[in-house]
Formats: sequence, structure tokens, C-alpha cells
Amino acid sequence: MKIQTETEIGIYTLENHQELNNKLKKIISDFRKKYPESDNSNVKAWHSHFDTHYKEPRFKILIDRIIDMSRNFIKVKCDLYPLNFWVMEYEKGNHTVKHNHWPATLSGVYYIDVEENSSPIIFENNFTVKPKNGMLLLFPSIVNHEVPPSKGKRIVASINLIYTP
Ligand SMILES: [Fe+2]
Repeated sequence: MKIQTETEIGIYTLENHQELNNKLKKIISDFRKKYPESDNSNVKAWHSHFDTHYKEPRFKILIDRIIDMSRNFIKVKCDLYPLNFWVMEYEKGNHTVKHNHWPATLSGVYYIDVEENSSPIIFENNFTVKPKNGMLLLFPSIVNHEVPPSKGKRIVASINLIYTP
């Protein structure tokens, strides 16, 4: 049986994101040279593996910022732990099929470099968000979402968090 529910999606813009994004683009470029292959996933674009935060500790500059915002979003005093972290580079025509990140607790998407004509992300009930550089979206991991074929490039990072009391 399936039930429908209502939930909140957090939409934030990270401060000083230009400097952060320039650093991230360099780290991703280095990472892609080292790990050029993608595995098979819902993301039909180049993407790194789910354990990217273990393979490249420099991504901590973003993960720490996301965890800070996530604590504000869930309004619960707890430790949040990055279960998965991965990065993606969409080229023209790349897309992501509808999926969710269950059984993680909280998920995030951060936009590092997105062209004006790149695709939105579409959540359940057709809730559509047009990405901007520096934008961070936070949502319960169970919420379905998809990305239609993109006209423009988009460099994006995603995270799954779990919490410990
Ligand atoms: Fe996703």
C-alpha cells in the first residue's frame, strides 16, 4: 500500500558560493580525470560513485556547509553523518529518471555551475525548482524527484545524510 504525505523542501543559497564553487569545480575536474567511468544509476550523465567523500577528502569544504544548513532545516539537535556523496556533470541531453534516496534520512542537492538553459529538478506534485549557482535544496530522502533532459550543462553535488542522537 502507498500513502501520500506532505513535506517541506528547504531552498537555500550558500554565502560566498562563488569562491566555494570555483574550488569545487577544480576538485571535480581532478576527480573526473582520476575516475572517468560512471556506474549504472538513475543519473544518465557522468557521475562519481556514492563514496566520493571517502575518495576525495577535499569535498569536506562543501559537506560541512551542507550539514550546517541541514541542522537548521530539521531543527533537531543531533549529529548528521554523510552516508553518500557524489558529483555529476550533465551535458546536453543528459537526465535523471524519477527516484528517491530512501532509506537515507535527509538528502541534499547543491548546484555548483548550471547554465541558464539547464533543466530544473522536478519533485512530487510537479514541484519544480530552477537551479541557480550556489543553491542548496534539502528534502526528506523519501521524496521522489527527476531531472528532464537538460539543454545546458549543469555541475551538481548530491548527499545523503543519516542522523545519530
Ligand atoms: Fe536524487
